[in-house]
Amino acid sequence: MIGEKNKDTGIFFETSCGWEQLLISGKSQFRKESESKASAAEKEGDDSITDLDAYLSKTKGSAKLFSKASEFFVGGQSHNARFFKPYPFFAARSSGKYIWDVDGNRFVDYWMGHTALILGHSPKVVTDELRDQIENGLFFGSPNIYAYELGELIHKNVPCAESIRFCTTGAEATMYAVRLARAASGRNIVVKITGGWHGYNSTLVFGVSSPFEEPESAGLVPGEEKYTRLISFNDIEEADRVLSSESQDIAAVIVEPVLGGGGVVPAERDFLVFLREKCDRIGSLLIFDEIITGFRLGLQGGQGYYRVLPDLCTLGKIIGGGLPASAIAGKKDTMKFADTSLFPSKKQRCWIGGGTFSENALAMRAGIATLRYLEAHAKDLYNRIGKFGTELRKKVDEAFAENGIRTQSTGVGSLFVTHFLADGQDVITCAEDVDLSRRDLEREYYFSLVSKYNIFFIPGHIGAISDAHEQSDIEYFVESSREVARRLKIKQRLKSQ
Ligand SMILES: Cc1ncc(COP(=O)(O)O)c(C=O)c1O
Repeated sequence: MIGEKNKDTGIFFETSCGWEQLLISGKSQFRKESESKASAAEKEGDDSITDLDAYLSKTKGSAKLFSKASEFFVGGQSHNARFFKPYPFFAARSSGKYIWDVDGNRFVDYWMGHTALILGHSPKVVTDELRDQIENGLFFGSPNIYAYELGELIHKNVPCAESIRFCTTGAEATMYAVRLARAASGRNIVVKITGGWHGYNSTLVFGVSSPFEEPESAGLVPGEEKYTRLISFNDIEEADRVLSSESQDIAAVIVEPVLGGGGVVPAERDFLVFLREKCDRIGSLLIFDEIITGFRLGLQGGQGYYRVLPDLCTLGKIIGGGLPASAIAGKKDTMKFADTSLFPSKKQRCWIGGGTFSENALAMRAGIATLRYLEAHAKDLYNRIGKFGTELRKKVDEAFAENGIRTQSTGVGSLFVTHFLADGQDVITCAEDVDLSRRDLEREYYFSLVSKYNIFFIPGHIGAISDAHEQSDIEYFVESSREVARRLKIKQRLKSQ
């Protein structure tokens, strides 16, 4: 056991490595705020201390937990994307724009719960609702008024959402979307984008990471990808070729309006318009995976932002307000195949579930509170976080350019990441470009932000600005990036000597 809980105080206690996370009467206190610690490792810009040393020195509690957790968690924790070297810090508390680890370090969070937390951590509008719901029933296992209300909000805002079904995770939603598309079209092939991440479902866990043509995982039946085709993001010519060559058997094209895990690359509108028109021509369905972009690029998500209407879309992350909820939504003509009263026989019906915990009251309430808040503040909120995103992307690139390092910060609105261009590389428009870029420098940059500047960003992943962030955070982010750029420049000079 790592820590002991004192029965009277509720204090978690670990003396040997010096971390004390105090959970007193449900209220967390942390003895070691990162600013007050002033450990040598945390002095900004102190070049004598490597990023790794700085991280190791301030995350001793996490190191210990990770080592212990590795005894019973595969890989020390439960999500591949959350791991970064040497080990991820273990969170203990979060509020607003901040996340604290078990060592008491406070980070400004740009990972924001895999981008789900558009209002920041534990916003009052959500926690008030949750407190109320805890007294009112956690989970009914039956249709309920809260699912109705959240469904209505989605139906009202998301253009293609004539009909909806809730589920619990994004992977589940994309799995249902693919099955539904196949059932509705009577066809087999699903075309996805190279680098597109749609969760761990077996049809789509293909062509996600480089080398893209190799199976993504052991344990997939050989030929699992028999009915999956890849096309490059933003490449109309290739899309045309692939969609034309097997047009009779293409059930659907699934695409994220902003390639998220594949490098935060925004779609060019022409590409999405082309896919829409081509799908119509060959009788295939167009699916937008809006698990990241839904309610992130505006109330209408990516489909509103790009003014392209898909047949189906998947939603997740933001719609659960920080709790697990996802949905498949789409045009009635397609969604109707999931209606077992209309299609009772096994041959006709498309069995998509919802899952045990779908429509759970807590997630529904959190989602309602979040979407209502977004509705009430849409114009200001999306403008503000979008402006922050634009400023951050531009100024981070300038900071690196000043130091002779070529970067391209991609993203749209409040989503961003910075890519380091390889020699001879000019632009990033798809996951293959991201793969060619200097991922080593990208990881180094973001690890520096975590270790020396207390900016939380999972190295190599997407950044998301929330309503809790402020102008001063963006300025701090840019200044911290400038310091990292200076250090990278010096390092590169030393290397080339
Ligand atoms: C675009 C997209 N689709 C699907 C998923 C899978 O969602 P989940 O992790 O909830 O299964 C993700 C997760 O990050 C995602 O970014």
